[in-house]
Amino acid sequence: MKLSMMAEQARGMLEAEPWYVAAFSNISALIMSTLPDLNWAGFYLIRNGVLTVGPFQGKPACIHVGPGKGVCGAAIARDETVVVPDVHLFPGHIACDSASESEIVIPIHADGKAAAVLDIDSPVKNRFGAEEQEALETLVRTIEALVSWKETV
Ligand code: SME
Repeated sequence: MKLSMMAEQARGMLEAEPWYVAAFSNISALIMSTLPDLNWAGFYLIRNGVLTVGPFQGKPACIHVGPGKGVCGAAIARDETVVVPDVHLFPGHIACDSASESEIVIPIHADGKAAAVLDIDSPVKNRFGAEEQEALETLVRTIEALVSWKETV
């Protein structure tokens, strides 16, 4: 499937079920099966002020990422996409999987405020260029427009 189709596929999933757990689970799988050369794709959600791991595909990951920590914390603090061509050169990078070489993190907003991030890792340096960033940011805008953050109980 083409990169540019991902947001439309995600739209279909969110329209079928907007609950964030269902949507983020399938969207992680969608990203993992669409982009070659990934070792981790998933979500961290701000819970009690701390980024906490959510639905993902890949090896078990760090559960918590403290405020301002790692690439995820930097993306929230700056409130913008952070692309890291070589994680070994990013001060404070948190290595959950030693295979990771490059990374992209995109903040996701709820009511105009950063509430979560989409975090994607690759075992290849320089994996995320302008085309990937644009497709993934479009995907995140689709999530923001359609997702429901309500719990089940
Ligand atoms: N590498 C991230 C931590 C999460 S793992 O990539 C799944 C970071 O430095 O924010």
